Amino acid sequence: MQKVAIVGAGRVGETTAQILAEQETCREVVLIDIREDVPQGVALDIFQTAPFFEFDTRVSGSNDPAAMRDADVVVVTAGVPRKPGMSRSDVLGVNLKVIDGIIDDVMQFAPNAIVIMVTNPVDVLTYRVWQRTGWPRERVLGQAGVLDASRMAAFIAMETGFSTRDITTIVLGGHGDSMVPIPRFCTVNGIPVSQFLSEQQIEEIVERTRGGGAEILALRKNASAYDAPGASIAAMVDAISHNRNRVLPSVAILQGEYEEDGIAMGVPCILNERGLVQVLDLGLSDDEQAMFRESAAAVRHDIERIPLA
Ligand code: 2OP
Repeated sequence: MQKVAIVGAGRVGETTAQILAEQETCREVVLIDIREDVPQGVALDIFQTAPFFEFDTRVSGSNDPAAMRDADVVVVTAGVPRKPGMSRSDVLGVNLKVIDGIIDDVMQFAPNAIVIMVTNPVDVLTYRVWQRTGWPRERVLGQAGVLDASRMAAFIAMETGFSTRDITTIVLGGHGDSMVPIPRFCTVNGIPVSQFLSEQQIEEIVERTRGGGAEILALRKNASAYDAPGASIAAMVDAISHNRNRVLPSVAILQGEYEEDGIAMGVPCILNERGLVQVLDLGLSDDEQAMFRESAAAVRHDIERIPLA
């Protein structure tokens, strides 16, 4: 892949750029931010790690949205993060204004890009990208499930002592308190986690996963998480750039899957160089479907708060 543009050179954007460069996921990473000099400084700092990590990915920064021209993937991290005590929905109003301008820039300068939305509330803003661009859903994704699943895997590793390499988890639904971790699909190298953890331990892990972002925000106080979010975005970009056909939980526009239509939610997706090639409909149990429906209602509530594109 030639070029990835990251809009927003805050901590999440910076971490993502560093990982993409270190892993040489693409030839060029451009960081774009409205703050004067900031993206240029961040980019220089990252590129000066090249001698240590031995990468040839070029990293640059700009205040000009035209710098995203012809990007293959545009990652949107710009906007304000929530403060401790706030929900992700509380930042919808302010972030919607920021995102609408960015969507217009993407349509002008990178009309063939695959967009990965990261800014919160990510489900609603992913929907907004789809609605405002009118693009096929294949090119409109959001990052949430990879992060939520990695948090769940980390908690299972901490509880069982097993290597995170062997732990597979799935988290569906909206990226909020009503997200839907699915323990029956969580395994240690194919062995159901219920072999190793009691029902109560699993329930505690599910609850901790739901509050995973808030836990870090409360501990860090002045910053939301950014290391695991950056790694999660990089995993999605890697799946696209290497045409891997990976199955990654991502925010996607649903068109009948999971009994939902015209909404953006976290679901298992096959990702390759075309973006989203398929949403995998897992066939949920009645209880799981009820939780998914409840999560969809919370996302839809916020979607109804946004004006028409
Ligand atoms: C998180 O879960 C900020 O939503 C982001 O950490």
